[in-house]
Amino acid sequence: MEYIVINGEKSLKGSVHIGGAKNAAVAIVPAAVASGGVCVIDNLPDIRDVRNLAVAIEKLGAKCQFLDGNTLEIDASCINTHVADYETAINMRASYYLLGALLGRFGKAEVPMPGGCDFGYRPIDYHLKGFEALGATCVTEHGWVKVYAEKLTGANIYLDCPSVGATINIMLAAVFAEGTTQIENSAREPHVVDTANFLNMMGAKISGAGTDIIRISGVKELGCGRYTIIPDPIETGTYMIAAAITGGDITVTNIIPKHMDPLTAKLRDMDCQVEEGEDYLRVYRTGELKACDVRTSYYPGFPTDLQPQMATLLCTASGTSVVTETVFNNRFQYINELKRLGANLKVDGRTAVTRGHCAFTGAQVGATDLRSGAALILAGLAAKGETTIGNVYHLDRGYECFEEKFRSLGADIKRIEKDE
Ligand code: EPU
Repeated sequence: MEYIVINGEKSLKGSVHIGGAKNAAVAIVPAAVASGGVCVIDNLPDIRDVRNLAVAIEKLGAKCQFLDGNTLEIDASCINTHVADYETAINMRASYYLLGALLGRFGKAEVPMPGGCDFGYRPIDYHLKGFEALGATCVTEHGWVKVYAEKLTGANIYLDCPSVGATINIMLAAVFAEGTTQIENSAREPHVVDTANFLNMMGAKISGAGTDIIRISGVKELGCGRYTIIPDPIETGTYMIAAAITGGDITVTNIIPKHMDPLTAKLRDMDCQVEEGEDYLRVYRTGELKACDVRTSYYPGFPTDLQPQMATLLCTASGTSVVTETVFNNRFQYINELKRLGANLKVDGRTAVTRGHCAFTGAQVGATDLRSGAALILAGLAAKGETTIGNVYHLDRGYECFEEKFRSLGADIKRIEKDE
């Protein structure tokens, strides 16, 4: 078993290069299945979910070759099955994008019910409703989702909420539907735009990505090409919060500052200094952190994927803060672990309240999901004494080289192996 061990109370200083966006990468790698040829994808984060997806599409018959840790060449011309490998696909949420990509290209797909982080009930009914509107039949049986269509025809699809997964999945299938598809109340997240740009680079006709109405004019086939993934806003935000929680001074580089506006605004409300350049942000503070309230929402609202990290920071502020989670119905499980480190958060339904003034103290804890792992690291960096974090595989799913990156900023952090 692997653990992360941190000796806290070091103020982190320096600059850190941000990698490619996980949630764009996990959509774009399956989207390459829709191409009939060879695609090269640059700036892929070197994380477990991406490596798993490469294996998942290799098991479909594609040829995948990492040209280096961050560049993947995919030859999708040799795909010979529409049935995903159970063991590979079950481990991650993003395997559901194989449904849209395979349905679009071959008119059929079979994928196990998706896994991924556990935030309570995470249905995929909007995805299936969208496929059905395009003319597909969807069957869920024996733990598998199976979708088939004689022919896909463009349709008007209204999403009950702007689901990222449903928007991208419907877009993937609709690329090949005859006529025009319109997705209303579509998700506006940067990774939705990135996936649309990737598909357009291959010859798709998608407009409106980044707004709440996306239009897709169907094409008969896609070509190939080379594409660079956008920087990861959640990795960026995690290091920005690391600067604030350790009283450090960190410059995050290779980023798109605009994508960070919801966090930048909150950090400024808390009296952190955030300096903005064309492709970097510098975060530091000169005094105590002020309390503030945070409500997660869809982009451009405050991202749910930064909620655990932000709640951890707010524990150390000088007053009462209220954190409201509106996207998922159960994304506060990490708080029990955070309490072992001294967090003073109280949860009632979708709201967590902290009175602030918390001084974290090291303890043994376990990550309950990817971003909860990040929150525990942040608390450990600020804590007095030693913190040991278990279930490190959650972090490896989504954070590239995080020990090296934190170490380069002055953190005392290492990975150890221990027998259970
Ligand atoms: N929803 C439904 N039905 C659906 C789809 C979604 O009810 O068919 C609900 C969900 O239960 C949730 C809300 O709609 O309450 C939003 O879910 P969304 O579909 O947007 O989320 P997702 O596609 O399951 C992706 C990311 C998550 C990120 C969310 C929100 C991937 C693989 N996952 O999940 O990323 O939190 O969007 O931005 O892209 C993470 O990176 O840590 C992570 C969990």
